[in-house]
Amino acid sequence: MYRSHTCGELRIANVEQTVTLAGWVQRVRNFGAMSFIDLRDRYGITQLVIEEQASEEVKSAAASLGREYVIQATGRVVERSSKNPKLPTGDVEVVVESIKVLNASVVPPFTIEDNTDGGDDLRMRYRYLDLRRNPLKEALQLRHRMSMAARNFLDGEGFMEIETPYLVSSTPEGARDFVVPSRMENGKFYALPQSPQTLKQLLMVAGYDRYFQIVRCFRDEDLRADRQPEFTQIDCEMSFVDQEDVLDVFERMAKSMFRELLGVEMTEQFPRMPYSEAMEYYGSDKPDIRFGMRFNNLTEETRGSGFVVFDEAEYVGAIVAEGCATYTRKQIDELTNFVKRPQVGAKGLVWIRMEADGSIKSSIDKFFGAETLAAWAEKCGAKAGDMIFVIAGERKRSLTALCELRLELGNRLGLRDKSKFAPLWVVDFPLLEWDEETQRYYAMHHPFTSPKAEDIPYFDTDPGKIRANAYDFVVNGVEVGGGSIRIHDHELQQKMFAALNFSAEEAEKQFGFLMNAFKFGAPPHGGIAFGFDRFCSLMGGADSIRDYIAFPKNNAGRDPMLESPTRISDAQLEELGIRIVEKPE
Ligand code: AMO
Repeated sequence: MYRSHTCGELRIANVEQTVTLAGWVQRVRNFGAMSFIDLRDRYGITQLVIEEQASEEVKSAAASLGREYVIQATGRVVERSSKNPKLPTGDVEVVVESIKVLNASVVPPFTIEDNTDGGDDLRMRYRYLDLRRNPLKEALQLRHRMSMAARNFLDGEGFMEIETPYLVSSTPEGARDFVVPSRMENGKFYALPQSPQTLKQLLMVAGYDRYFQIVRCFRDEDLRADRQPEFTQIDCEMSFVDQEDVLDVFERMAKSMFRELLGVEMTEQFPRMPYSEAMEYYGSDKPDIRFGMRFNNLTEETRGSGFVVFDEAEYVGAIVAEGCATYTRKQIDELTNFVKRPQVGAKGLVWIRMEADGSIKSSIDKFFGAETLAAWAEKCGAKAGDMIFVIAGERKRSLTALCELRLELGNRLGLRDKSKFAPLWVVDFPLLEWDEETQRYYAMHHPFTSPKAEDIPYFDTDPGKIRANAYDFVVNGVEVGGGSIRIHDHELQQKMFAALNFSAEEAEKQFGFLMNAFKFGAPPHGGIAFGFDRFCSLMGGADSIRDYIAFPKNNAGRDPMLESPTRISDAQLEELGIRIVEKPE
């Protein structure tokens, strides 16, 4: 037996017991003849004391210890004279009677403390050391508890967890595929699934009725704070359901997880917002509704004054920053530079200051009289003390820029409190999205998403108008999940493929297996997938999903610890029938 207790376990009730602990040396402090060791394991930290009267053996063992040594210590639990209220074990300490070094450690490259001195890259290279730190341990603990909560909930609702293969074939489903060369069939490749979408639909055809899987998905796309090349979904599918049924089950799942993990009670029904409204008033399909500041469309009101920026704009939109009339020139310049950054893309920022005395000042005084500005302010609901910001230009770009500005103002004004959660269903997404470059429609969600029955006639007249039975689960501006009711009818699926410009042969080649299956009695079905890493970081109050993944990749898609990706040997290449062609620099 290596230990009788963990390092997080001892309390006053254990006083006078003889215990054995094992763990890592967090730090050693010497005070004259006495020394103290903080011993750490996953469960906590316990203070060990080497007293003056300890044996020479114990004293010399203690003197040899360094940070992160693994030791075993036996001793008597005593009440501490100076208690440490910050530690759950802080009322007691262990007076060491024997000590054994189980393993020495070289000096770690950064400190194993909550606030470490290690940079990002170093910590990723020694991820197993970083994982010893409390913040990461807590993040992975939250992740574990969330997966248990989801599993328990879904099991209780009759969902069966079924695994699906990782070696599948490549399908055009949005992002680029990661591929795996086949040794048995040289020149052919498996693809890693971007999601188990088609497979879970086949499980519905197979009659499994309610499926879920906490499953890894692989997408070769540009990485950001909330995107990893391999990430995890809570992937679900149900038969004999319509949109309401799916939203009902998963709204209850989300509520039960918020309750169980954070003690947050969400009693109200989650609001629903059509996609068109989200775009019109928030410039985003994932609005952060913890705060208002909705857009006001001033395109009509601002026409015909001779101010070309407005006159020539496809769209003029305004937001009201409450209480911001006192913003200085410098603050306004900062915001102007913010919206003019290439990533945001606005041409400029117009401001209208609603002075406390009722007067109005603006950067466009020359073109618009006080009365006109007052009428706009009224339309926007601005009052004395507020500042109105206006962005004009091409519609899509201006909406995006206003969205970025709104979020930035939300940050500056402290309106995006991480301990508040504002869930939202965004519904009625368009089925198809027109791409100017390739001059064709793409499926906004995926090609199996069903159109709203009443919109089906638009396939022949105006496909862009068709709304889908698709929904996203959005919390605090984060797209946590998304799903849809699927097409289960062979003919409608053909119509969809035709709208996507797939020839019958192409559709057959890519999705023949699914089309074929649909001929054998496919039930109406639909589902959803939650981005599990995102859900974890949202609940944990973090911006990046990386801390919720034990061994993540960096922004270049590399694992600095495993040093992957790597080259493979010539023998392996030979076996796979692959020759590497070096790209010119
Ligand atoms: P979708 O592509 O919307 O839907 O993905 C579902 C959710 O997965 C998360 N997500 C990601 N998380 C981390 N890194 C990534 N690269 C990444 N990409 C997506 C998001 C997203 O909402 N098969 C459909 C679901 C369905 O229709 O049932 C699908 O995969 O939180």
